[in-house]
Amino acid sequence: MSSVVIVGTQWGDEGKGKIVDLLTRYADYVVRFQGGNNAGHTLVVDGRQFIFHIIPSGILYEDKKCVIGNGVIIDPAVLLGEIEELSEKGLPVTPERMMISERAHLIMPYHSKLDKTTEASLADGKKIGTTGRGIGPCYVDKVGRRGIKIGDLEDTELFRDKLEANLEEKNFLFTKKFNVEPLDFIQIFDQFQEYAEKLVPYLGNVSVELDNARKRDENILYEGAQGTQLDIDHGTYPFVTSSNTIAGNACNGSGAGPVHIDEVIGILKAYTTRVGEGPFPTELFDETGDALQQKGGEFGATTGRKRRCGWLDGVVAKDAVRLNSITGLAITKLDVLSGQSTLKIAREYTLDGKSYQAMPANIRKAQAVQPVYEEAPGWQEEIQEVRLFENLPVNARDYVRKIEDMTEVKASIISVGQDREQTLLLKNPFEK
Ligand code: IMP
Repeated sequence: MSSVVIVGTQWGDEGKGKIVDLLTRYADYVVRFQGGNNAGHTLVVDGRQFIFHIIPSGILYEDKKCVIGNGVIIDPAVLLGEIEELSEKGLPVTPERMMISERAHLIMPYHSKLDKTTEASLADGKKIGTTGRGIGPCYVDKVGRRGIKIGDLEDTELFRDKLEANLEEKNFLFTKKFNVEPLDFIQIFDQFQEYAEKLVPYLGNVSVELDNARKRDENILYEGAQGTQLDIDHGTYPFVTSSNTIAGNACNGSGAGPVHIDEVIGILKAYTTRVGEGPFPTELFDETGDALQQKGGEFGATTGRKRRCGWLDGVVAKDAVRLNSITGLAITKLDVLSGQSTLKIAREYTLDGKSYQAMPANIRKAQAVQPVYEEAPGWQEEIQEVRLFENLPVNARDYVRKIEDMTEVKASIISVGQDREQTLLLKNPFEK
C-alpha cells in the first residue's frame, strides 16, 4: 500500500496529466486536492485526445475510483459538461466511480464574472493573466467564510440564504464599481437546483473514504494541479493561483493525515514554460524560444494561450524539491530538446552582485534576477521511440544526470512523447 503525490515543479503545464495517467495503472484511487477548472490535463490514449479540467483522469480506467477533495473548487456547469462528454465517449461516470467532497466549494457564476471583470479593469503590468475561471474570487469567499459548499446544495434553505447574501454583495460591485450588468438571483437559483439533482448523489466524506481505502491497503494517487511557482504562499506572488499547489496540500485538500504520504513525484519539464504574467528568469525571446514553443506544442489546455518558453531553471527545480519533499522526478518532454546544439540550465540567479539560490520573495527582485547558466551539449537524434535509458543519446543521458545532480533527486520517469507508451519508467513509486 502506498500514497503517492504528484506535483508540478514549475509554473504548471509540466505534463502532469500524462504521468498521472501512467501511475494510475498502479493506483486504486486518484484524488484531486486543489484548484479548479483552471487546470487542464491533456491525455492522448490510442490516438484519442482527452482534456480534463476537473475530473481526475483516472476515470479512463474502469476499476479506479476518482475523488474530488475538499480543497478543490467546483464549477458545476463544467463538471457536468465533463461527465456528459465522457459518457458520450462511452465512459460513463457514476457515483460508484467518483466521489466529491461535500466540503468542496462551488465556483458560482459571479466568481467567473468577477474574475474577468477585475482582470479587465487592471492596467497592463498589474494584470495576473488569470484563466478567468473564477478561481481567485471563489477562494476569497471561502477564506472570507461566506463561500457556498457543494454540500449546501442538499439544503435548499441554506443555499438560498447564502446565494442571496453573496449575490447582493457581488451585484453591488458589478453595478457600482465595475459598471457592468448585475446577475439574476432566480436564474442562478433555478439553475443550481438542476445541478443539485445531478450532483448530490456524488457527495460524500472524502477523508473517511480515503482512510478506509488506506486501511484496506489500497494505493492512492494524489494529483496536483498547476505548479510549485504558482503556489499562493511559495510562488511568485501575486502572479500565482489562489491555492496551495505544493504536496503538503494533498493532506489539507483531501482530509488525509500527513504521515500517510509515502512518495512525492515532481514533474519537471526538460525546459520551462509559463502561461500568464509574472517573473520567468530563464525566458527566451529569440528563435530558440519560438522553436520550443512550436515543437513542444506549447499552448494552454484551458485557455489556448501561447505559453512563454525558456531554458530549464535549476533554481526553480531546487525550490520545488525542498518545498514538496520530492522523492523522484518525472522529466517530461525530453524529446522536444532534440535538435538543439547547446542546452542551458540556470544554476543560480544574480542581482546587483548578489547570488540567489532560491526565487526571491520580493516580486521586483524576482522580475529582475539574471540566470547564471551552465551549458550542456545537445543531441540531434529524435528520441520518441526510445524505451530504455541506455538507448538515449549520450548527451541526453548526461542532461538527465545533470538535472539529478543539481536537484539531488533521481529521475523515476522520463517522458519522450505525448503517448502513454512513449515513457521510460525507471522506478515505480508505488513499488517499495
Ligand atoms: P488562476 O488560477 O486562473 O487565478 O490564474 C492565476 C495564474 O495561474 C495565471 O498566471 C494562470 O495562467 C496560471 N494558471 C492557473 N492554472 C494553471 C494551469 O493549470 N497551468 C498553468 N498555469 C496556470
